[in-house]
Amino acid sequence: MMMSRCPNQSDLPTTHRVFLETFGCQMNELDSELIVGQLEGMGYRFTDDWKQADIVLYNTCSVREHAEAKVYSRLGRVGSRKRDRPQTLLGVIGCMAERDGRDLLRRYPQVDLLCGPGELDKLPMLIDNALKTAMADDPVNVSQTVALQGSASRRSGTLAAAEDRLEFLDLSRRFNPEAAQAQARSAYVRITRGCNKFCTYCVVPFTRGAEIHRPPDHILDECRRLVEAGVVEITLLGQTVNHYRFEHGHAVEVHGVVQPQKGRSYAGGHDRDPFTDDGHTTTFAKLLQRIHEELPDLQRLRFVTSYPRDFGNDVLEVMRDCPRICRYLHVPVQSGSNRILEMMNRGYTVEEYKDFIERVRAYLPDAQLASDFIVGFPTETEEDFQASVELLTWSRFKNCFVFKYSPRPGTPAFDKMKDDISEEEKKRRNNVMLSEQAAISRAVHESYLGSTVEVFVEGVSSREARKQRRAARDGSLGGAVSLTVHGNDINSEVAPTMSDDETVQMSGRTSGDLITMFDVPATTSDSLIGAIVQVHVTNHAPLALFGELV
Ligand code: 5AD
Ligand code: SF4
Repeated sequence: MMMSRCPNQSDLPTTHRVFLETFGCQMNELDSELIVGQLEGMGYRFTDDWKQADIVLYNTCSVREHAEAKVYSRLGRVGSRKRDRPQTLLGVIGCMAERDGRDLLRRYPQVDLLCGPGELDKLPMLIDNALKTAMADDPVNVSQTVALQGSASRRSGTLAAAEDRLEFLDLSRRFNPEAAQAQARSAYVRITRGCNKFCTYCVVPFTRGAEIHRPPDHILDECRRLVEAGVVEITLLGQTVNHYRFEHGHAVEVHGVVQPQKGRSYAGGHDRDPFTDDGHTTTFAKLLQRIHEELPDLQRLRFVTSYPRDFGNDVLEVMRDCPRICRYLHVPVQSGSNRILEMMNRGYTVEEYKDFIERVRAYLPDAQLASDFIVGFPTETEEDFQASVELLTWSRFKNCFVFKYSPRPGTPAFDKMKDDISEEEKKRRNNVMLSEQAAISRAVHESYLGSTVEVFVEGVSSREARKQRRAARDGSLGGAVSLTVHGNDINSEVAPTMSDDETVQMSGRTSGDLITMFDVPATTSDSLIGAIVQVHVTNHAPLALFGELV
């Protein structure tokens, strides 16, 4: 890695405009938000138009080939422009930078900067360094600047250092009430980085490194400051959130007083239930409970993503007893065939997954569940596939993400298993699963007809945003409206009612994560954003409820 000095010592002019585009998951969305905060704090300005930018950054995802293909096409586009404007700085950050590494620089010489997801705290330094090189005598000959963790963070000696460095990025978050309002008062907070599961198809353990759990006090502090800045809903993030556990080092703090450690906890040996709090360990259940108790003004607490194994009843009990924790679980199962689950190294059986779903239904009868499936995994037979369809039907998820298997270089499945299901067959299986799920989603949404649901209002609906953008283009409205809705794409939904000029269609979510739309007078729409309102459900679509404000 090339770097020369601390970013805070920069004496560069602070007029650089940055364009940042984010691909992939919520973890990347949060990383991008932190990057924006960090760079804005240093004087950089952001633009929505990459052609106006001096620095173009792509925060990338490597989970499937499709996500990477989009970025390669962006790199080609910016590369052509760099022929006219060689001083434009082009950076690839996130999982693709880590996965492709220096090969990417060889294949795309127009890229000036690479920064892996485990090194984002160094991004300001890398940009600073690259800009200085670009301002030197020969702007065309910009040397490339790289920060990648390689496999270093998986070595125990460097894990602690990685923990400290990465913690710095999350701790540098800016708490801006205006931004909180603009973002519909919803925020992500990371609790865990990386993943130790090594599912055979997945790049994440290689790109994001070993699992690291953030100290609970840091998480609490971040949540508290967000709530004080006006945030109403917090979503805790981790690849496997229910595996969260923080072993308190040599001392524990009780009511602000440091206590001597009374003995080593059971770390490593599992002679006791590893998910109970023994005083030295903060488990996921305990973390949820603490956030709920210590932040009474936080109206909604969510978390993603849950892993189907090791999801103890302690978490379900806390969810049941804490009304402001949302009744929603996203628990990817990936396959309904035990043979395929084993090949995927998922570490549970279909029977264990079903047992988990039954426990959820028993503790939280009003909860909604969502899941992920992969179709066309190597050797998946029609029988294996039918087992997935059966599990999907049995589980009655409110929605499901179904992915065609995408072989990822560097993963065990890529190295050891032949991608032997044709693209056409993957597509067929994908469509079968999606249409089966559409029928279930429709029935789940239909079951709410006539009831009243509590909705956290996120903004105007996507249909409304499109309408307002059109009107702005035609000159009949003063400005464009932006919409922040995390997660599902509901663009294809057609609302059964049309709002006239005086009403605006708003969109929000129930505690169970059901998208809900309702019309309000245009004059009141702004004041509703970020509020929790009651909506009487009068209509539905496969992925949305429609209703009237009570
Ligand atoms: N091919 C297809 N889908 C994948 N996922 C992860 N890796 C792959 C892959 N190689 C899916 C899984 C996971 C979701 C985030 O992406 O379903 O839960
Ligand atoms: Fe990937 Fe499996 Fe970790 Fe999820 S649990 S991030 S699928 S390795």
